[in-house]
Parts: sequence; C-alpha cells; structure tokens
Amino acid sequence: MTDLAAMTTLPYDQRTKAFLDYMDRGRAAGPVAKSEQPGVWEVFGYDEALQVLGDFRTFSSDMNDLIPEDEKELASAAQGNFLGVDPPHHTQMRELVRRAFTPNVVARLEPIIAETANRLLDGIELSADGTGTFDVVGEFAAPLTARVIAKLFGIPEKDHGMFTIWADALLGARPAGELGKADESAVRELGELVRFASAYLLGIIHERRAEPQDDLITALTTAEVDGRSLDDHEIVGVIGMFVIAGHLPSSVLIGNTVMSLDSHPDVLAEVRSDPGLLPDVVEEVLRWRSPLVRDQRVAACDTELGGEHIPAGAMVCVWLASAHRDAEQFERAEEFDIHRPNRSRHVAFGKGIHFCLGAPLARMEARIALTALLERFERVEVLPDSGIRFHPSIGVLGPVRLPVAVRGNTPTG
Ligand code: HEM
Repeated sequence: MTDLAAMTTLPYDQRTKAFLDYMDRGRAAGPVAKSEQPGVWEVFGYDEALQVLGDFRTFSSDMNDLIPEDEKELASAAQGNFLGVDPPHHTQMRELVRRAFTPNVVARLEPIIAETANRLLDGIELSADGTGTFDVVGEFAAPLTARVIAKLFGIPEKDHGMFTIWADALLGARPAGELGKADESAVRELGELVRFASAYLLGIIHERRAEPQDDLITALTTAEVDGRSLDDHEIVGVIGMFVIAGHLPSSVLIGNTVMSLDSHPDVLAEVRSDPGLLPDVVEEVLRWRSPLVRDQRVAACDTELGGEHIPAGAMVCVWLASAHRDAEQFERAEEFDIHRPNRSRHVAFGKGIHFCLGAPLARMEARIALTALLERFERVEVLPDSGIRFHPSIGVLGPVRLPVAVRGNTPTG
C-alpha cells in the first residue's frame, strides 16, 4: 500500500489522485483493515463509519493520554474543548456552548461575513484592464474565516492575526502521515504559544464578565445548564476548539469549491446563471472533496467491526473521504454532480453526538464567499502552475494557497 506520509509531499494533483486511489483500494479490500501502523485500524466503508461515529460507548473520543503529562497548561487550555470528551461530560459542555452559539447568533453573522468578504476583495489589486491574480485562499478564504471567528467572539480587530497563527500551529502538531498518536515533541513546542494565547483570552474574558458585550464570549460567561456554568479556563478551551475546528476546514472548503468549479466549467456556467444553486454546489463539494478526510476514535473495549476484531485501546481512523466514495451510498461517486439526490448523506461534518456545531456557519460562509467572488469577477481561473499548495496534514485535503487569475465584472478605476 502507498505510504500515506510520502503522499503528502506529492504535488497537489498527484496527491489528490494517490489519496483517492488509496481510499478506493482500501474499500475494495474490505470495509475495515488493520493499518501498517501498529495499533491502528482503518475504516473505509460508509456503514462502518456510521457505526463508529454513532457508538460513543465502544468508540471513545477521549484521547487525553496523547497529551504529554508535564504539559499542564496545554491540558488546562483543552479543558473546555469537548471534541475529545465522552458523555456525560460532553453532553453538558456541548449543551452549555449550544445555548450561547444559537442559530440566531449565526444568522446575525450573515451581513458581517458578506461585508468582510467584500472588503477583502476590495483589497485585491487589478490592473487597468480589470485583470489580476491573487491567492484566493491565503488572501481571501483564510482571512475571511479567521476574522469571522474572531468577530463571533468579539476579539479586537488588531488581534485577528493571532487566531490564524494559533489555529495553524495547533493543526500542525501531528506529523503529516501519522494516523496514530500526536508527536510529543511537536505538542511540547506548542506549550509556549498556548500559554500566551490563554493569558490573552483570559484577559478578554475578565473584561466581558465586568462589562458584558454583544458577543459569544459574553454569552458563554452567562450560559447555564442545571445550575452549572463555564469557568474562565473552559471558555478559553471553547474558543481554542472553535479556532481549530472552525477556521481551517472552512477556508479549505472555499478553496475546494473554487477548484471544483474550475474543473467543471459546465457547473460554473450553470451557477453563474442561477446563483441559487450555490448551496447545492457547496454540499456536493463537502462530499466530493471534503476538507477533513478522517475522524478518529479509540476502541474503549474489544469489539467487532466490518468482520475485523478491534482490541481495546486501538486507534480507529475513519476515512470520511472513503465513505463518500462508497458506491452502495452514492451512485457514480467519483463524479461531481450537484444534482445528485442524496448528497447530504455525506459525513463531512461527522455524525452522532460530535456532529459539527459549526456546520450551518461553514455552509453560510462558503455560500457568501462564492457569491462575492462570482459577483465581483466574471472570470476566476485556477493557475495550476503558480504554486498551489495543499495543507501538509494527511487529515486535510485542500489548498492553503490557491493562485487564481481574475477579471473584474466592472472596469475598476
Ligand atoms: C467546512 C467546515 C467544517 C468541517 C468540514 C467541519 C468538520 C467537523 C467534523 C468532522 C466534526 C466531528 C469531529 C468528531 O466527530 O470528532 C466537527 C466537530 C465540530 N466542529 Fe466542525 N467543521 C467545519 C466548520 C466548523 C466551524 C465553522 C465551527 C465553529 C465556528 C466548527 C465547530 C465544531 C465544533 C465545536 C465541533 C465539536 C462538536 C462536538 O464534539 O460535539 N466547525 N466538525
């Protein structure tokens, strides 16, 4: 089998092909397989993916023993992060955050996202004939999604850059092709950054407790479930989780949507004439090129899965990208088809009790970003030879740098 780590060093197009071939070969051999990496099992089938993600008792999200013992601050910053926590603690933490992060809060972000997107596009320099080139992820999608999270929490404008740095550093903690444990030395190096970010955020939380504002930090300080509320360190963890979980995959989704439309000019033409189709496009991109390609669990006890015996303590790597190519679920799965009837059956946002809390926001950001791009430019063309760079992790499939050539819809002065 192809070495996953080696795959991440390939040019983006070869990497995508090699990765998807790996998924297809894996699935053809069976829905579940023991990995070449010791202690790791890989899940390729759609039904088996649902089985793992839907059974938190057998497949735990608690990977706390991956954090080095002496990194107390790192562990404490993760206190409010309920991604890696099982019920009953997960149920209570998720409900506390859900009470603050309401559909109304997300709806109120819509004009802010549109304004931020347009302001970022205003900053793109075009020549006198209205043409130009820019990095649509680095200069548009990534700053957009980072700023939206910063705005959501009420972080002052001047500090928004810190969010991107924090998220990128935290996401880089796992070696590129590693399916199992995080690299201890890399995690250790993060200590200083996390200490700095935590101290900064604690300061803002104290300010909000003293002087409430109309933002998510204030809402988190007042949210209550059964007489329990979040303490300051838990709120820091919640913010960290939103930064990690929310910023990168959302910007990669925008990049993958630009790439998918670029490689399907017929669909692009259809969407230009009917922008109401954009939510369908985004939904199919989530299936066809999901930004996060895997989810991970630890077997809490000995169990059977897809005909394989999984021992307690084994790491279970669920390949979401493979589930999306399972022919039993998706006809002509390898084709990008925005009209397929069952595309929302994808698991790009996970499934079960850890289902993505930010899914409505991510969908909205992608729709607004693409609307702004297509309205602003009559031509958006990916430049394949100008240094497209994909995220280095094997868990992420999509661009962090995506140069495009554009032509403005109206002459610029
Ligand atoms: C395209 C963008 C996104 C993708 C593909 C994505 C994907 C996912 C996935 C697969 C999970 C499940 C993890 C698991 O099962 O262990 C998840 C959980 C989560 N996501 Fe997202 N996400 C995206 C955007 C966002 C945004 C914008 C936010 C917040 C602003 C967010 C917040 C969360 C949170 C808080 C969880 C944890 C839920 C829990 O453990 O109960 N995500 N996301």
